[in-house]
Amino acid sequence: MIFPAERPRRLRSTAAMRRLVAETSLEPRHLVLPMFVADGIDAPREISSMPGVFQHTLDSLRVAATEAVAAGVGGLMLFGVPRPEDKDATGSGASDPDGILNRGLRALRTELGDDTVIMADTCLDEFTAHGHCGVLTADGAVDNDATLVRYVDMALSQAEAGAHLLGPSGMMDGQIATIRAGLDAAGHLDTGMLAYAAKYASAFYGPFREAVGSSLSGDRRTYQQDAANRRESLREVDLDLAEGADMVMVKPAMSYLDVLRETADRSAVPVAAYQISGEYSMITAAAQNGWIDRDAAIDESLLCIRRAGADIVLTYWAAEVAARL
Ligand code: PBG
Repeated sequence: MIFPAERPRRLRSTAAMRRLVAETSLEPRHLVLPMFVADGIDAPREISSMPGVFQHTLDSLRVAATEAVAAGVGGLMLFGVPRPEDKDATGSGASDPDGILNRGLRALRTELGDDTVIMADTCLDEFTAHGHCGVLTADGAVDNDATLVRYVDMALSQAEAGAHLLGPSGMMDGQIATIRAGLDAAGHLDTGMLAYAAKYASAFYGPFREAVGSSLSGDRRTYQQDAANRRESLREVDLDLAEGADMVMVKPAMSYLDVLRETADRSAVPVAAYQISGEYSMITAAAQNGWIDRDAAIDESLLCIRRAGADIVLTYWAAEVAARL
């Protein structure tokens, strides 16, 4: 009999031993809850492809946000869902102080003050009639620089509505530098940016399109990244850092953990990852079929995103998991 010289199993022998040596942890403060506030509805509406996730009224938003903060989440990320008839070519509802997203931000800031970090999606797609993240040229292409002008308008209205952090998610070139300059010129020196630095054109966003009533036909492949590429993300991250991002994000999370790890290794600012709608729906559907242990799968997915390098995880389970922890 030759005895193994090394016995890694010793460190797995009891729950107490495993707890002692765990390299990564998941705490409520690491989790950010994405939320949807919709105009023109009088009761919260469940998103059919995301069971358990709701489009909120302003009132139900306040209640759900307060509960999430009581459970200890680190922050809230708000998306607006305008009425279809309020969408137009330039997404003017996005920068309207009375647009649904800005009303929602104001409600959250009034209710919660500085008790949590209030984040705003800074992107036009929910507000444009064509569903793209920017404005279009006469030929129907997404016009990068004309879009930047709109992003600055939107950012200023969100800063004024009380957002602590803006989340530019449209993947236009130069968006971080341009928005930073706009915020600074208007005196919003303390309004930060969580830059969607590496954001891929992903099939896993499918349920989100229902969540925000997106009218997109076609795809976002001329601005969001190609899943085939890794180095391209490093370039995007470096650019956003150089342009003044306060935090950088990788999105989606689970299929892009390699990108997340490399981002974490080169970033001097906090790194976030977004466990997106399709990731939520896949685990939810498998659990509903009795094919996986729901809570164990959720916890494992979040822990693995942390292990890959995320300081912060945006997840639709944030409030539930924070309460459970
Ligand atoms: C775009 C945006 C999207 C998501 C967040 N911001 C959709 C897209 O790029 O098509 C997806 C989030 C999710 O799927 O949970 N503003």
